[in-house]
Amino acid sequence: MALLKIVIPAVCLGHACPLLTGVILVACFTRRDRQSVEKQLQQILSPEEIVTLSVRSAFDLLLSALDLPRGSEVLFVPGITIPAMVQLVELHGLQPVGVDPLSPQQMLPSQLEPFVTTQTRVVIISHLFGTIHKAGHLIREAKDLGLLVVEDCAQSFLGAMPANRRSLAAPWPMGFRGHESADVCLSSFGNIKTLTALGGGLARIKDPKVRAEMQELQSTWPTRRTSHRLFTVLGASFFKQFCLTPCLYGLVETLCATLGLDFDGLIVSSVRGFGKLEYIRQQPSLALLECLLRRLREQHMACFEDSSLQSSVAKRRRVAKVVVERLSEEGIDCLTYGDGSNAWWLLPILSTNPKNMAKDLLSYGFDATNTSTQLQRVASIATCKSAATRPSDGKDSLEEQEEKHKPQGTKGRIGEMTKQKRYKLEGLEARQY
Ligand SMILES: Cc1ncc(COP(=O)(O)O)c(C=O)c1O
Repeated sequence: MALLKIVIPAVCLGHACPLLTGVILVACFTRRDRQSVEKQLQQILSPEEIVTLSVRSAFDLLLSALDLPRGSEVLFVPGITIPAMVQLVELHGLQPVGVDPLSPQQMLPSQLEPFVTTQTRVVIISHLFGTIHKAGHLIREAKDLGLLVVEDCAQSFLGAMPANRRSLAAPWPMGFRGHESADVCLSSFGNIKTLTALGGGLARIKDPKVRAEMQELQSTWPTRRTSHRLFTVLGASFFKQFCLTPCLYGLVETLCATLGLDFDGLIVSSVRGFGKLEYIRQQPSLALLECLLRRLREQHMACFEDSSLQSSVAKRRRVAKVVVERLSEEGIDCLTYGDGSNAWWLLPILSTNPKNMAKDLLSYGFDATNTSTQLQRVASIATCKSAATRPSDGKDSLEEQEEKHKPQGTKGRIGEMTKQKRYKLEGLEARQY
């Protein structure tokens, strides 16, 4: 079986509305006081949170502050993430190690201990595909094993319900910013994220010493220039219009197919931000801080749990419900794991022939892709110390399943991930991200 991602139509890139674009553009040119914006942000955020240019910037700061011995292992759970996170680990002289998902339906192992060695120092639990994984037991276990727990919530920012509507029945009425017990939680406001600010990251760090070191180091970084912000906003606006203009989109797609160019790769590289390390190591511009402030004040616009409002996620959920039901009537499995708080920013489905299915779906007007150019398997995979302790629910690993179900001549997702390109951060072209 291989994964195929259907992007729920018109929502994935639909956050950068014209009004927001206008506000950001005005913000780029208006003179304001950075300190007062920072103060307003602090009032909204918890004292444990710091604002960064991106999740990657926050992660880089964290690894610098931790200053772990060379060769220490950083365990990615599941062993699937964006290449830049892995590269940052390597850049700090550490060894990234991934834990393969047990099956497409079970992304997290039931135990960590079998994958932990004497070198393991940090475990990164990533909530992928817009879901929130049930990770409480793994976080507790990791803490018992003396590991630092980082939750990568880049794909799962969950707006808080408005104060007067908060219902304790909702799983995350205050919004999901990682589990309380995790040491570090990272949330992203990058391009195509729920409630995007076209950039920005939030890091909640428990240890005051580590947090202070991160803040101190960040203060030595240059501030991102307003002109960069301007290009980001104009680029995103243009891109949104491009995606929402079917004839233009279709024309470029056909052109790419005729010329043998990778259209999916082009789309992915267009939404991925800066790739160079020097761009990651910057403080957010004032215009970005203002946009983030506005986004955080309007969190209910994306609140997962607030179906009474016209939140973007509530709308997506309604569309996803119909699509998932209809696909299951046709015998097609969708990955609907997690704790039910699914943001549906994409809809991963299982197929034995992803290429053909993507073609079919495209012809029916779905934005579907069978390539996985952003999320990739971590190259070095942790081996379970003992088969007896292997957390098994009777299901095969993702790779074994892939092998079993792979029809002749079909290249699945895992096959592509294994052959991942080894990018280098330094000097990397932005378009590779
Ligand atoms: C799982 C995961 N981690 C980290 C990141 C990086 O986030 P940012 O773009 O804010 O650096 C992303 C971005 O797509 C992501 O999907």
